[in-house]
Amino acid sequence: MDAINWGELSFGYIKTDYNVRCYYRDGKWGELIVCASETIGLHMAATSLHYGQEAFDGLKAFRGKDGKVRIFRMDENARRMQSSAQGICMVEFPEERFMEAVRKVVELNRHFVPPYGSGASLYIRPLLIGTGAQVGVRPAEEYLFLVFVTPVGPYFKEGFQPTKVCILRGYDRAAPHGTGMYKVGGNYAASLQAGILAHDKGYAAVLYLDPREKKYLDECGPANFFAIRENSYITPKSDSILPSITNKSLIQLAGDMGMKVERRPIEVEELSTFEEAAECGTAAVIAPIARIDDLDLNKSYTFSPAPGPTCVRLYERFRAIQHGDVPDPYGWVTVL
Ligand code: PLP
Ligand code: COI
Repeated sequence: MDAINWGELSFGYIKTDYNVRCYYRDGKWGELIVCASETIGLHMAATSLHYGQEAFDGLKAFRGKDGKVRIFRMDENARRMQSSAQGICMVEFPEERFMEAVRKVVELNRHFVPPYGSGASLYIRPLLIGTGAQVGVRPAEEYLFLVFVTPVGPYFKEGFQPTKVCILRGYDRAAPHGTGMYKVGGNYAASLQAGILAHDKGYAAVLYLDPREKKYLDECGPANFFAIRENSYITPKSDSILPSITNKSLIQLAGDMGMKVERRPIEVEELSTFEEAAECGTAAVIAPIARIDDLDLNKSYTFSPAPGPTCVRLYERFRAIQHGDVPDPYGWVTVL
């Protein structure tokens, strides 16, 4: 392993030692297999290639001051991956086995968990794909579950410093309403054009509106959205956004810090009334937003160019629990 400059890591792929795999064949899941190869052999008629039978998830492990490794809320990711699988008619991977595979892949690559204080973490990427051959549009009869890890730094180059995001009304990011098609490859491929357009114009991300009416806020390309106003944590309720585990955790923390929590449809115009706005997600953590430009309507909403006080409080508490700096009263972390 080449020396890694942990403090300089961005959010990208770095080869680690092992991944863990499990095959579904003849109607049942096999044993977990430890693998050192970065590639997979795939039938050219596999349903993942043709019909997008592919779902992934994402979670992180952190090294604490005590040197221990903590995995954050992996039971939640296990369940979400099952709902993603249901949405595209894939065989679900059992929750207990998912957690066993995650634990195993982190253990096997323990020395890739970045040191405490580096700002980096170990990103864990579970993947479920249809491997069985079909030419007709039908679900596969064979599947592969795989989980790999890679050490990562901040998703946005600004880190915790506020970014600019834009609204592009001609684009949809969302999963079709109520389908449960959350973390599936096709949804992300459909967002690539808008993401590139936004980056080329100097924006960190796109803030998508609800696909039906373009009236309400949905979520950002790689993260959920929340805002702060008068001691309230306000976040969109929508069935076309990913149910973010980070957002769910922040809702809990905000409530326990004495804030009011509002999870409801948020009209775009309400942006002008918020004191703070931010993206939140595993990769993004909390990424404050300094400005939102609605490019088609030529309207801008501005927030503080420095992280707001509530974002700071939530960020510090959230990160302290993830790293084991403070006790975890919620049972969110699994210590290895
Ligand atoms: N929304 C989208 C589209 C995402 O890709 C992610 C990241 O996984 C999130 C929201 C945040 O979800 P979580 O907090 O579970 O990582
Ligand atoms: C995550 O936060 O885990 C994500 O999946 C975001 C992005 C890398 C797709």
